Order: sequence, then structure tokens, then C-alpha cells
Amino acid sequence: MKQISVNNLLGVKYLTKDDINLIFETADSFKEILNRKIKKVPTLRGITIANLFFENSTRTKLSFELAEKRLSADILNFSKTGSSISKGESLIDTVNNILAMKVDMIIIRHPSPGAAKFLSKNTESCIINAGDGTHEHPTQGLLDAYSINSRLGSLVNKRVLILGDILHSRVALSNIFSLNLLGAKVKVCGPKSLIPKFINNFDVVYEPNLDEGLAWCDAVNILRVQNERMNQAYFPSLREYHNLFGIKLSSINRLRKEILILHPGPINRGVEIASEVLDNKNTIILDQVENGVAIRMAVLYLLASKREKIIESD
Ligand code: CP
Repeated sequence: MKQISVNNLLGVKYLTKDDINLIFETADSFKEILNRKIKKVPTLRGITIANLFFENSTRTKLSFELAEKRLSADILNFSKTGSSISKGESLIDTVNNILAMKVDMIIIRHPSPGAAKFLSKNTESCIINAGDGTHEHPTQGLLDAYSINSRLGSLVNKRVLILGDILHSRVALSNIFSLNLLGAKVKVCGPKSLIPKFINNFDVVYEPNLDEGLAWCDAVNILRVQNERMNQAYFPSLREYHNLFGIKLSSINRLRKEILILHPGPINRGVEIASEVLDNKNTIILDQVENGVAIRMAVLYLLASKREKIIESD
């Protein structure tokens, strides 16, 4: 049986092309199971997984929880609100207490970049990063790439435009790593103030003009304007943002070709995307959500199998 090369999923940065292809192949078989009448398999029976969410989430939290349930794992759900974090307990003490309850895997969303890596270095558990601040959101990057790949048949030489608030996004880096590894060409587009300088370290090109970017691409992944992470004004107004960088039906209708439209969610209607674009036949936002469950099942399964092998060989 093929094995994933990593023991934790901290970021797509740490994965190989073979790892991603293995995750996609495994997700294909889980997707088939998810379309059956009985959507549950006993694969992770006996494994206990804790979902630790120190930041709000709808899609990622529910998608991981459903993936775990579909694989018959036992689940603990933790959110910062209502926990002893409010009494001053540290992250590492919280996690060590949870691990003392014989938990096998930890899913963590945290506002601090590097939180998942910190836990992987300081605990014995298998850690999956469900979004660490503005750093990475690996399962989202993987499911976005999987969704484009499923629709276009391959990512080799496909052109993907990542549009919007790249500066505050954790999805952008995970997208760039996944897409580059699978052979796609990537451009980023948005107000210059929302494009981080470190973007030059990656194999991407900055496109300042949205119409040019849309004319170039096969798929556009629209990132949310993350108002909650902004401590200063990065553009004059939301109206101006929408006029210059929002995807409108007119932007799509002007193109002499069809492009896929993705958004990792949650969406800000009327800011980065106009409501009417959501009804476009090439808008695959809900496909992304559906694929997310299969991708997360694949990641859980591959990491749990690797862990079993490590424990057996000890
Ligand atoms: N895409 C995503 O991470 O959404 P949530 O914040 O709702 O989990």
C-alpha cells in the first residue's frame, strides 16, 4: 500500500507531488462511498480525534467532523469559547490534557501562524492544521486543487488566478503550493496593498488588472476580504473594491470563454463576488464543500494508517 510521506499535515509546503496524487486517489474512493445510501465505513473505528477550534469556522469544522463520523472515528469537539483557556490555561497544557484522555489525532484551527507545527514538535500526537492564522490551510488548498482537477481533468499547464486579499489569507499559500506541485501556472490579482512582498519567493506572477487576469485564466479562486484581520485601511471603500476587484456577471460575460469560479468561503456577497455570479453554471463553490469531506477523509485515513505503521514498528 502506498503511504503518505508526512506524519502530520502542517502545510502543503511539506507534501510531495506523490502525496497529493495519493490524497486525490484516496479522496476519489471516499467520494464514491459518500454517494452511497449508507455513507459510513469502519476504517477509523477505535481512533479518537479531537477537533480544536480556537477560531470560528463553519465549513472546515463541520467537514472534518463529518469526515471523522463517516470513517467511524470517536470525536471530541473543543472550542475556545466556554473552555478553560479563559482561565489562563496555555495551548500546550490544554492539548496535553486532551491527549491524556487517549486521543490519537488533533485537528487544530488557531489564529497564530505556526500553532500546528508547535504542537507537532511538542506533543506525541498526529496533528492536522485546519488553518493557522495567515499561514496555511492545507486541506482547503488541497480541496480547491482537487475541485479544479476534477472539472478540468488535469492541472498540468492550467492557468489559475488567485484573486483578492492574499495578504491576510491562509488559503493562498496552500493553493499556490498545491497548484505549483501539480503543474498549474498561477497568477495572483488584487489591490497591491493586499499582495504580500514575500509572494516574489514563489512561482507566481502578480497581475494588477482583473480583466487581464480573467482573460488569462482557466479558473479563478476568489479569496475573501478579511476585514477582521485588517488593522488599517488597505483600500478606500468596499464599493471601490467591488468595482475594481469584485467578480460581477459582466466580468464573466465579457470573456469569450468559460472559466471555473471558486471561493473557499465564507463569501462576502457584493464585495469580492456579486450574488448573481453564484448562480453561474461554472461557479463550483458547493462542489468545493462537497469535495472537502472526501479530501479530509483521505487525509485522516492516510495519516492514521501511517501512525498505525509507526506504532506497530516501535
Ligand atoms: N473555508 C473555510 O475555512 O471556511 P470556514 O472558516 O467556515 O471553516
